[in-house]
Amino acid sequence: MSPWLMNTYARLPVAFTRGEGVWLYDEEGRRYLDGVAGIAVSTLGHAHPRLVAAICAQAGRLIHTSNLYRVREQEALAERLCRLSGMEEVFFANSGAEANEGAIKLARLYGYRRGIKRAKIVVMEGAFHGRTLAALSATGNRRAQEGFEPLVEGFVRVPFGDVAAVERALADEEVVAVLFEVIQGEGGVRVANPEAVRTIRELTRAREVLMVVDEVQCGVGRTGCWFGWQWAAAALGVAEERLRPDVMTLAKGLGGGVPIGALLASGPAAGVFGPGNHGSTFGGNPLACTAALTTLAVIEEEGLLTNAAEQGRWLREELRQTLSEVRGVEEVRGEGLMVGVALDRPAAEVVFRALESGLLVNVTAERVVRLLPPLILRRPEAEILATQLAACVRAFLASS
Ligand SMILES: Cc1ncc(COP(=O)(O)O)c(C=O)c1O
Repeated sequence: MSPWLMNTYARLPVAFTRGEGVWLYDEEGRRYLDGVAGIAVSTLGHAHPRLVAAICAQAGRLIHTSNLYRVREQEALAERLCRLSGMEEVFFANSGAEANEGAIKLARLYGYRRGIKRAKIVVMEGAFHGRTLAALSATGNRRAQEGFEPLVEGFVRVPFGDVAAVERALADEEVVAVLFEVIQGEGGVRVANPEAVRTIRELTRAREVLMVVDEVQCGVGRTGCWFGWQWAAAALGVAEERLRPDVMTLAKGLGGGVPIGALLASGPAAGVFGPGNHGSTFGGNPLACTAALTTLAVIEEEGLLTNAAEQGRWLREELRQTLSEVRGVEEVRGEGLMVGVALDRPAAEVVFRALESGLLVNVTAERVVRLLPPLILRRPEAEILATQLAACVRAFLASS
């Protein structure tokens, strides 16, 4: 491992030199099926011709100007995201953590304008919102936080999806927002009960506090809907506006691999930020916005929402069947192409076994083997993924 890099990642001993579709190639030319997509980033797989052409053309025209000026690509992307979500306005950042920092600031300012000087935000156990200080403070993982105290104050934690606990927390007049993931990714692919999402929406509306959803991992098509809360509305069979959040954050898959984050606001959260309240040098630059516009266009034109739903359903069903008799497999869960295989023991070794067999998977929350493949994954590749993963899990459980 390079001595020139800070030792922040326990990296696998492999480096990739190129990719094509759902496949990555290492320095020896060995091929791997990418079941991780750079942690839910490479939505269109690798080297998608439409995305490559759009990025190259944009780079040849203009990479960066500044938010001192109008940025047409940013305006177009903001409109597109608002039309897809029914949200009203967008601020562009460069990552998920940054988008969440913006959401936390927006919620505090919303409270401040209503006379609340020391705002509190309700957050969930098992949540992951990023590594910057406020996002880390909102994150429900003590190991990630340890040593970085004093953390940012003002977060009240409740069990994931526990609506009674949310209701109790909302009794506090200083609470200005409830922040959560509809599907916790880092927390172990834990899917919120859509009923709980609906109840939180009703409670926050009634109390006039903001419902903030972190869609950094489960957004941009991963569930088979554009956004996780839309998946929850569809699961309940209710109109989208019944569940639409006041604030939503995006990043990861939005740029198809080019860094971009977004903070969207609607209803009471729209219009909270004015000039001077928030900003970013790089946020919403022409290159990143063109990548995102192209990613969204390809998702739509190639039918990748339906594909994500179908392949994901098939993958979970297949894994459930092939692993049903295997002791040590607790559950196969998820939505769309966000799949978790929960084991009864620490599962890091599965990642190594999979790597050896030419498959990239990831383990989160210690015991959950996680799949986040590109949304372009088709059935023949899903079959390889399921077969190889099941073999690795079986071999691991038999030997540990
Ligand atoms: C739900 C969620 N929010 C925020 C983040 C942080 O995003 P980033 O790593 O781009 O800062 C992540 C990253 O895993 C995430 O899964």
